[in-house]
Amino acid sequence: MTVSSNLPTTMTGAEMVALSKRHTIYEWSAQGAVDPIPVARAKGVYFWTPEGKRFLDFNSQLMCVNIGHGDERVIRAIQAQAETLAYANPFMTTEARARLGAKLAAITPGDIDSFFFTNGGAEANENAIKVARWYTGRHKILARYRSYHGGTAGSITLTGDPRRWAAEPGISGVVHVPDFYHGIQRGTDTAAEALARLEEVIELEGPKTIAAFILEPVTGTNGILIPPDGYMQGVRALCDKHGILLIADEVMSGFGRTGQWFAIDHWQVVPDILTMAKGLTSAYVQLGAVGLRRPIADFFTDRVFAGGLTYNSHPLACAAALATIAVYEEDRLIERARTMGALMAERLADLQARHPSVGAVRSIGLFGIVELVRNRATREPMAPFNGSAPEMAALGKFFRQEGLYTFVRWNTFFTNPPLTITEAELREGFAIIDRGLAACDAAVTG
Ligand SMILES: Cc1ncc(COP(=O)(O)O)c(C=O)c1O
Repeated sequence: MTVSSNLPTTMTGAEMVALSKRHTIYEWSAQGAVDPIPVARAKGVYFWTPEGKRFLDFNSQLMCVNIGHGDERVIRAIQAQAETLAYANPFMTTEARARLGAKLAAITPGDIDSFFFTNGGAEANENAIKVARWYTGRHKILARYRSYHGGTAGSITLTGDPRRWAAEPGISGVVHVPDFYHGIQRGTDTAAEALARLEEVIELEGPKTIAAFILEPVTGTNGILIPPDGYMQGVRALCDKHGILLIADEVMSGFGRTGQWFAIDHWQVVPDILTMAKGLTSAYVQLGAVGLRRPIADFFTDRVFAGGLTYNSHPLACAAALATIAVYEEDRLIERARTMGALMAERLADLQARHPSVGAVRSIGLFGIVELVRNRATREPMAPFNGSAPEMAALGKFFRQEGLYTFVRWNTFFTNPPLTITEAELREGFAIIDRGLAACDAAVTG
């Protein structure tokens, strides 16, 4: 345990946990089961509890603090904006809003150059599907099963993973399609196979009834699924053939996480609509956005954009986003995600070579995952789909004891550190993972 001085909180960690559990609700959890980490402060790739226990943040919190914690440049920009103008309503404009729209137009793919600002990713996707329906005059939205698109009514219906189940029946018109990845035992389709499945669904549903296909260009929580070469181009071609809009949900995969500004840039495909949040401000202030290609933006020249939010284009958030984007540029963090990502890929491959419990590793940039198995021959996952296992729980506990923070989900855990991570910090994290996997290895039977 590393003890730090300079503690800004007045409560102990235990007091924070007890009071939070008494009066606040934790998401996606039975409240009796939650065991939150009390966080007092954070800097770089680390955060600390009030008692000074240090954690290496190997998940950038919720895959969002891409520039690392406590960057003074962003803090100063938020402070300066708060002192000058904390809020103006969205029918007005501010310098931060004006500059951010123009900046995003410069870094997003192709002719995406007009943006609607939201509070986060779910609202961005809600507005993306509304736009797609208005623009095409069609109703249905295709989405993939291994996906997460947010927790609001429409976005949770788009979501393919089990978080959707409690929200069903959800909004009308959403159709899920299988992914190219079918789990560690069944493996991955080729691009041609995956595209054939997609086209079959399009034909069966009726191409002229489908407004859009929404996908995460590299799937996040559902497994860091990197499409086979040709898949993204093939999806673009199918959408063009049938007049279906392509919506890229870059909420998690955007802003350097994969080693490009946006994951879809790896395949040089331009989506019709691109949604973003998280890394846009590195979560210093909440902000999401929907980017539209020029013809779609022009559609609203003489038609009403029938959407609105009190906090649309919030000046604090726009100022934070501008400062965050400047940090990516000044510190060359997109390139850094590629170079450090190559080192991380080596560390992941090393884990797979040495630990029988490691059945698969995948990464692109600093977006990584490890899938654990009970049996190398059958590739039986260490925990079932949507399930848990004592070994996975024990691994999570070990990481927490040892001061490594990351997401442990089903039979997987993630390696998504801030893009600022150094080689030494990366090695520090992998050393803890290495020790933690020993107990998982003991459970492997074949
Ligand atoms: C791909 C993707 N889309 C949308 C969302 C929802 O974003 P938010 O939680 O900001 O509403 C998330 C959140 O994890 C996400 O990963």
